[in-house]
Parts: sequence; C-alpha cells; structure tokens
Amino acid sequence: MDLTPVDIVRKDLQSVEARMKEVPFPSPAPVVESLERLLAAGGKRLRPALSLLFGRMLSVPDDPLFQLSASLEIVHTATLIHDDLVDGAPVRRGIPTVSSRLSAGAAVLAGDFLFAWAARLAAATGSIPVVQKFAGTLGAIIDGEIRQMSSADMDCTLAEYEHRIQSKTAALFEVSCMGPALLAEDSAAADRAAEYGRSFGMAFQIADDILDYTGDSADTGKPAGQDLRQGLVTLPAILYFQSHPEDPDVSAFRAGKNETGLRARLVDKIRLSDAIEESRRCARRHIDRALEALASFPGGLHRKALEVLVSSIV
Ligand code: IPE
Ligand code: IPE
Ligand code: MG
Ligand code: MG
Repeated sequence: MDLTPVDIVRKDLQSVEARMKEVPFPSPAPVVESLERLLAAGGKRLRPALSLLFGRMLSVPDDPLFQLSASLEIVHTATLIHDDLVDGAPVRRGIPTVSSRLSAGAAVLAGDFLFAWAARLAAATGSIPVVQKFAGTLGAIIDGEIRQMSSADMDCTLAEYEHRIQSKTAALFEVSCMGPALLAEDSAAADRAAEYGRSFGMAFQIADDILDYTGDSADTGKPAGQDLRQGLVTLPAILYFQSHPEDPDVSAFRAGKNETGLRARLVDKIRLSDAIEESRRCARRHIDRALEALASFPGGLHRKALEVLVSSIV
C-alpha cells in the first residue's frame, strides 16, 4: 500500500501534537478545556504536515522544526475560533464552537490565548527571520478577516477576492512552507517554498469556497451553504454573477435586497451552474503554479508527498 503524504511525517506529527498539549500559561478551566477539546477534535493538521515535509526535505533539526510546526497549527486554531465568532457558526470539526458553547468574550480571549502561545513557540525557534515572517503573517491574516467582515462586498471583484484569500488563508500556508527554509538558512529554497505555499493556500481556500456550495456538513464538520446566505461573495458567486448579469436575482442581490428566499435561490442556481467547474479550473491553475515551484527541489519521498498533497486539493 502506498504511503499518504501525512503518513510520511506521522511520527513527527506526534511530536508536534505532544507540544500542542503543553499549555504554557495557567488559565481558568472553561477556556483551556474548550481549547483542548477543539484541538483534540481533529483537523487535518495540514499546516504542520507541510512544514514537516519541507523541514525534512531541507534537513532542519527537530526542536525548532517541531516548535514552528506546533505554532502554525495553534495560530490556525486561533483564527478558526475568531472566524466562527465573526460568522456566528454553531459547529466546527463536528463539535459546538467555543463562541456558541461559552460566550463571545470567551472566544475572543481563547483566540488571543492561542496567538500568545504561538508567538512564544515561534520565538523559541531562535530564528529572527522566522519571527519576522511570523509577525507579518499574523498581520496579514487579521487584515484578511477584517476585510471580509467590513466589506459590503455584494459587488466583490475577482481582484478583491484574491487579495482577501491571499491574506486570510494563503499567508499562513506560505509561512508553513517558507519557515523551514528560513530555519535552514537557505534563501533560494525560501522563495520557492513561499511560492508553493502561497499557491497551495489560494487553491485550498477556493476549494473550501466551492465546498461551501457543493459539500455536505457531515463530511466537512461545519455548516454548508452559509457563505452567500451571510452575504459573503466568494469565487463561485463572482463567476456566476459575471456570466448571468441578466438574472433578476443577481441584480436584486447586488442592489442589497434581502427578500425571503433570494439568497437560498441564488445558492441553488450557483451550485448547479458552470461557475463551480470554472472555480475548480481556477484552483487548478494555482495548483500548477505550486507544482512548478516545487520542481526545483531535490526529488525524493518528501517532494513526491508535496506533489501529491497539492494535487489532491481539488
Ligand atoms: C479551514 O481550514 C479554514 C480554511 C482556511 C478554509 P482547514 O480545512 O485546514 O481546517 P481543519 O484544521 O482541517 O479543521
Ligand atoms: C477561512 O475562511 C478562515 C480563516 C482563514 C480564518 P472560511 O471562513 O471559509 O473558513 P471556514 O469555511 O469557516 O472553515
Ligand atoms: Mg468561516
Ligand atoms: Mg469556508
């Protein structure tokens, strides 16, 4: 049986999981308990898997590699908690969200707690370039989420969409791949790893935005069909709006109308339209870019795993 990309770093991932159990600050039980529950509820651990694959490919020592990998998953978890609060989402990874189980205040503080923990882990790597990149990434993610929250984006353009997903999602994938190269002090590898990570992240968010239309919440562990209902215009909607300017529901939505059934109707139309396949094509273009960036790394098990991983996004 062939090994999956995650199997190749399975043992390393266990070391990373162990670090994610070493909660560094004393804090009252309900917040820490709900964090532990969310971390234990699964998640694909994609960001640490990427950083471990690059780290092993570039022969990075264990300690800083595990610290970096744990910090990436912890940042990711913080952004999910805050994202679910902003979205009013009831479930994540198949369990009730922190904001719905405790309170909005607890969710803000739980996310902050994780950001602080992640910063501490990034600093523990002892690499100033990693800490600098990490700080820039936090800024980008928050900028992307603020952009998403504050955009009256019924008329969101393709360029605005790309900017938003680059910040909120691709930036963290970028540092996940680039960080190990910074630890290895290999600047040529860092540029190519960053390009792979960024393109991976763009494709990944587009795939998530497609799944919001086509997916089943039993599989994804989060509610489906919510983006447009909450007024969030993502790639499938942008492409549908472009190709159906004559659809009266499109004009009504863009004019800011929110009569009963309008958004649900549009979700159904988009789901059944060519916009879904066209969105997949767009994701595949990012995947091709990632594969190109990978081509100059030494061949072998880890590069093969990175090829398989990015190719499996769509
Ligand atoms: C969800 O990320 C947020 C997006 C960037 C779309 P993941 O799909 O990696 O979430 P988990 O960690 O597996 O739950
Ligand atoms: C990803 O965007 C969220 C972050 C990067 C913080 P989404 O809002 O699409 O993620 P889901 O669908 O809630 O997981
Ligand atoms: Mg969300
Ligand atoms: Mg989503």
